Amino acid sequence: MIDTLRVTPLHPSLGAEVAGVDLSRPVDASTRAALGRALGDHLALVFRDQALTPAQYLAAASVFGPPMEQHYSQHNMPDLPLVGLIWHRNGQEPAEQWHTDHTNRERPPAATILYGVEIPSAGGATSVANMRAAYQALPEEERRKLETLATVNSLESGRVDTRQADRDKYGSPVEHPMVRTHPVHGSRAVYFHITKAAHITGMTPAASQAYMASLLDRMIRPEIVYRHRWRKGDVLVIDNRATMHRAHGDYDRRESRVLWRVIVEGDRPRL
Ligand SMILES: [Fe+2]
Repeated sequence: MIDTLRVTPLHPSLGAEVAGVDLSRPVDASTRAALGRALGDHLALVFRDQALTPAQYLAAASVFGPPMEQHYSQHNMPDLPLVGLIWHRNGQEPAEQWHTDHTNRERPPAATILYGVEIPSAGGATSVANMRAAYQALPEEERRKLETLATVNSLESGRVDTRQADRDKYGSPVEHPMVRTHPVHGSRAVYFHITKAAHITGMTPAASQAYMASLLDRMIRPEIVYRHRWRKGDVLVIDNRATMHRAHGDYDRRESRVLWRVIVEGDRPRL
């Protein structure tokens, strides 16, 4: 399979299309390794025209790491709970705030994998921002400051739709550095989730929120954002170790937008 693998950048800062891989079939070891490196290099990978059952999709996603349980368990597929559904008709709101996934875990997901099952006729894109480039663009002094800071993460206290069983399992606070080194690529990136970070160590919750909001404002510029406009059959792999992402809720809610989501375990973030 490795002979047919082609990786073509989609944007000057991040994102690449991968051709020559049929994810419905087993992926051999050399292709897995090449895809892992491509993810570290390009931070978002797009596979087009995939036709996958839930079980095939889960197997394909596990190319990027061991699948993890997702903490909004009410949205997981009943017979295949490692696959979550993103669908507004389930009562979910599109996640429009920039974030990286599941920072309340000790070993947060290395990657989030999304599969476009039903796509609205307009809008509903997913954007991914290169937080490695964001880190590099910060003034030297602020990079040094960020390298000394950590966030304390837990499940959002304000959310009413979190099940008690998920709170019991995933609710304890976890500390993560605000700058992390990518275990494959070796580069540093800014790392935080503004609504899961209850506070930054040594700062009040209000000051922490204000500082994170200011960072997002200053860091996330169009030059470092790849906006993925979904086609049915796309698989989008997002490297959570060096990016943030958001959904765009700018689509007609009478239309359906269904994505299947798998998250796969990564390393414990370290500076
Ligand atoms: Fe997300």
